[in-house]
Amino acid sequence: MTKRYKDIVGDGGSNIAGQVRAQQARLHERLGGVKAVVAVVSGKGGVGKSSLTANLANCLALDRWRVGVLDADLNGPTMAKMLGVRGRTLVVGAGGVTPPESALGVKVMSMDLLLSSDDTPLAWQAPTQEEAHTWRGSMEANALREFLADTAWGDLDALLLDLPPGTDRLTTVTSLLPALAGTVIVTIPSDVSHLVVRKSITVAVQAGAPVLGLVENMAGMFPGPGGAELARAAGIPFLGSVPFDRELALAADRGEAFVAAMPDRDAARALGRVADAVRESLATPRA
Ligand SMILES: Nc1ncnc2c1ncn2[C@@H]1O[C@H](COP(=O)(O)OP(=O)(O)O)[C@@H](O)[C@H]1O
Ligand SMILES: [Mg+2]
Repeated sequence: MTKRYKDIVGDGGSNIAGQVRAQQARLHERLGGVKAVVAVVSGKGGVGKSSLTANLANCLALDRWRVGVLDADLNGPTMAKMLGVRGRTLVVGAGGVTPPESALGVKVMSMDLLLSSDDTPLAWQAPTQEEAHTWRGSMEANALREFLADTAWGDLDALLLDLPPGTDRLTTVTSLLPALAGTVIVTIPSDVSHLVVRKSITVAVQAGAPVLGLVENMAGMFPGPGGAELARAAGIPFLGSVPFDRELALAADRGEAFVAAMPDRDAARALGRVADAVRESLATPRA
C-alpha cells in the first residue's frame, strides 16, 4: 500500500513536517527585510517574462532601489544570463548563500548558478543535472522553498520573481510566501497569447495577491489584438506596451542592462514607464 503524507508525518523517523516548518520559518526570516515581492507571470512561454523581469529590475536599480531577482523558472533559468552573472560563484556564509550582484547591483539567485558551479553549495539533493532539469510539481515547490529560505537577500525594496510559463505556477509561489505584494502579467499582441493569458489573469485574481497590471510586450511585431483592450475587458490596470526591439534581445544575450546601455530607445523608455507604473501601484495602499 502506498504511504500517505499523513503516515509519513506520523512515523516520526524523518520528521518531514518538522523540517518543512523549520524551513518555512527560515524563509519568513530571510524575507523579513524585503519590502515587496512581485511575481512576473504569464500562462504563455516566450512572451518576455524574463526580459521584463530583468529590465524592470534594472530600471528600479537605476532609481536606487535595492532589488533582488529570484529565477523561479527551474527548468529554463535565464536570469543569470540576462543579468550578466552567469558562472559567478556562490558564497556560502552563516547567514545563507550570498546572491551575486549584476553591474547595477541587482542580486540574482538562479538554478543556473547552482548547476554551473562545480561544488554545489546548498543542501540540494539533485542527483544529476538532467534530473534537476525535469523537476516538477511538489519537487518544484520544495526547491523554491529552499531557494527562498537559503538565500541571504538582506534588505530589499523589491524582490522580483521570474516565474516559468504556466497558469498553475503562481499558486505554488503564493503558498510559499508570507505575502505577495503583487503580480505583473505579460502578454504579446496575438490571439493565441491572449487566449492563454486571459486564464492567467483569472488565476492571478483568484490567487489573492493584488494584480498590479498587464504589460504588452513585443508590440508592433505583428498586428494582433491590443493588450490595453485585454486589460480593460478583464478589469485590471494596463501598465504599458513595450515595442519589439532587436537591441533589447541582443543586450539580454550579452548580459547587459539594455535600459542603462540604450536609454534613448523607445523600448527602454517604455520599460521605464512600466517600472514607474509598477512603483506607483506598489505605493498605492490597498483595501
Ligand atoms: N520587446 C522585445 N523585443 C525584442 N526581443 C524581445 C523582447 N522581449 C523579449 N525578447 C526576446 O524574446 C525571447 C524570449 O523572451 P523571454 O524573456 O525569454 O521570454 P519568457 O521568459 O516569457 O519565456 C528572448 O530571446 C528575448 O531576448
Ligand atoms: Mg523565462
